[in-house]
Amino acid sequence: MKKLFFIILMFLISYTIFSQENIAIIPKPVSVVMHDGNFVIDAKTSILYNTSNKEIANAIHFFTSSIKEISGIDLKKNQHQEKSINFQIKQIPNIGKEGYQLQITPTNITIAANSNAGIVYAIQSILQLLPGVRTNAILKLPCLTIEDYPRFEWRGMHLDVSRHFFSPEIVKEYINLMARYKMNVFHWHLVDDQGWRIEIKKYPKLTSVGAWRVDYTNLVWGSRPQAKPNDDATYGGYYTQDQIKEIVAYAAERNITIVPEIEMPGHVASAIAAYPELSCSQKFQLPLTGGNYTNISSNYCAGNDSVFTFLQNVLTEVMQLFPSKYIHVGGDEVDKTPWKNCVKCQNRIKQEGLKNEEELQSYFMKRIEKFIISKNRKMIGWDEILEGGLAPEATVMSWRGEAGGIEAAKQKHNVVMTPGTPCYFDHYQTGPEGEPLAIGGMNTLKTVYDYEPISKELNDENKKYVLGAQANLWTEFITTAEHVEYMVLPRMLALAEVLWSKKDAKDWIDFNRRLQPSFKYFDEKGFHYSKGNFNVEIKPTSINNKLSVTLTSEIPNAIIVYTTNGTEPNTLSNVYTNPIVINASLTLKAAVVVNNKVMSVKPAEQKFVIHKAIGKNVMYQYSISKYYMANGNNSLTDGVTGTFAVNKYWHGINEKDLIATIDLAETKSVTNISINCLQKYADWIFLPTSVQFEISTDGINYTTVGKDVNNISTSIKEPTIKTFSTTFNQANARYIRVSAYNLKECPKGHPGEGKPAWLFADEIIVN
Ligand code: ACM
Ligand code: ZN
Repeated sequence: MKKLFFIILMFLISYTIFSQENIAIIPKPVSVVMHDGNFVIDAKTSILYNTSNKEIANAIHFFTSSIKEISGIDLKKNQHQEKSINFQIKQIPNIGKEGYQLQITPTNITIAANSNAGIVYAIQSILQLLPGVRTNAILKLPCLTIEDYPRFEWRGMHLDVSRHFFSPEIVKEYINLMARYKMNVFHWHLVDDQGWRIEIKKYPKLTSVGAWRVDYTNLVWGSRPQAKPNDDATYGGYYTQDQIKEIVAYAAERNITIVPEIEMPGHVASAIAAYPELSCSQKFQLPLTGGNYTNISSNYCAGNDSVFTFLQNVLTEVMQLFPSKYIHVGGDEVDKTPWKNCVKCQNRIKQEGLKNEEELQSYFMKRIEKFIISKNRKMIGWDEILEGGLAPEATVMSWRGEAGGIEAAKQKHNVVMTPGTPCYFDHYQTGPEGEPLAIGGMNTLKTVYDYEPISKELNDENKKYVLGAQANLWTEFITTAEHVEYMVLPRMLALAEVLWSKKDAKDWIDFNRRLQPSFKYFDEKGFHYSKGNFNVEIKPTSINNKLSVTLTSEIPNAIIVYTTNGTEPNTLSNVYTNPIVINASLTLKAAVVVNNKVMSVKPAEQKFVIHKAIGKNVMYQYSISKYYMANGNNSLTDGVTGTFAVNKYWHGINEKDLIATIDLAETKSVTNISINCLQKYADWIFLPTSVQFEISTDGINYTTVGKDVNNISTSIKEPTIKTFSTTFNQANARYIRVSAYNLKECPKGHPGEGKPAWLFADEIIVN
């Protein structure tokens, strides 16, 4: 009886220590079956493997050195011992090149895979089951069976080392973090306007000149002046070919392919600084100091054959260093103006029978692709390479949303999805209050976790061209290893799960549970990471003309507190349970509380106005941009006013006037009409030149009841919200027409001078 009790107790202990709920592997494996008991790694454990396989020897080295690092134990190799860890490469159906099987019993661990890649991933899973740092605790693994393989073949992370140079040690740390979470492509952005980072033996000036810029780190990226010819260029760095070889080998041991990006034909002010004859103007310049492009050549001349000779020589050295099947050639954001003004480029257009400069870019990319294919490699580029016609075998990296990727897949070209939302990890992940300064935007952990790389617009035939997805880390605002870590952690873990795990196995709550050991690992290793998105989403809904709001947080089981009297919410404020009905004008503030502490750095805040047009239909003469639809067609009458965040509640319209007609559905007595508009210089958003207000009882004959002219300068850079309004003698109206006249063009001196301006408007308030 006693013995049975003991057995049950042992079963319960082993079960409670290592139930499925305690397994915290990220990305979530395809299948985990738990068994009773444990395997203890100790001095009596031997590794068994085929020593003639060099690749597996590398993996074994990684495993044994990791075990030694955390425990001091030197595992024996191929010796007869009480317990063994057996590594086998053999034919296993249905798990692909990167899949693995892991079986843990009290006396044996068996790791089997079709290739070394699977072995590496089995090791990563084991390491996630063990402590992350040096410990004197027993190294105990639960008995289990795992079968696991990835959903996508391209699980990418990008790092821009041009805008800021990161040392080989930091790059290796980045690769190591990727490897822990089974990411397998490192896209290394080695070339851009602000620095050329790869040694090319044939063209030494690419690094002696192109890798160094005048140091303006004391100024914010976009406000740096361009260097003058005699300024000292002291800021930068580059990787020698030996360093690159070492990093490529380091990555390969972790099953990570490095895809180098040698940007062309634009974004190459650094190369032109080294060799001015590569540009159309052929003028001397220094690499860009930041985001200031005035009077700088950023493009190679597409009419000059020696440019192609140069690029072929560069690519030849690049391909000798990088065994990757894919070579990234950029192709994004080419300003075609220099080509329009260049005799050689125009001659090329004529000789080749091209229609325009878009086709000239296509000619450029096709010529480069031909060379890359001749070396048995494949060309990949940003989605602009679609414009003017895609090169015959090119792979497209879709960054301006998913449209380019969808189009390329429909044309039966391979695609990697990296849409700005949610794949740009240079955007904020919470706040932005309390976050380090970022370029803008917001991609929270949950938006990354919710990402689905296969667009609904792709049919079964076209889906197969989506190789996977990738997060991009541009570093205009990121200058330290700590900041790099912060931007990718923990978002990379969410993307890893999107790309590896089964689509239907995704579970936000369970992912958050499994994140906790990773947070502990980051803490112990000293990695910086975002501890969570504590923003509260205030979502207004209008049902039967009744305005109510829901409050949500991405933090599982978070408590949300709120106020409606303008005061800051605290732990004693109202706790949100059900949608809040708004029946008077007020300001709502809300915050997340965890462990009795207000977590949000700044509470979420939203102003509501109740007026006579709430919930009424709005018709537009010109369509609102699909990117700025806010809450939909009736955003101007939802009682919710726009904030300084451009993506919040504003209706945006590009170049055209905003002419909105509200149907009040019945005739009402009216005496005041107003509309709020936004100016945000940095985002090319300007106040209207004037706003005209009209009323009508029949929708045909309108009477003007006021006009408000803008008195705020277009050069004001601080975000500004202005209310345009009119008050008039009480009148009956069923229809209200508000015409806000667009500035049309960005003003003189603005970076977008002469280009279409945005007009942003929110609530039309009728009283
Ligand atoms: C890009 O973000 N310009 C590819
Ligand atoms: Zn030219």
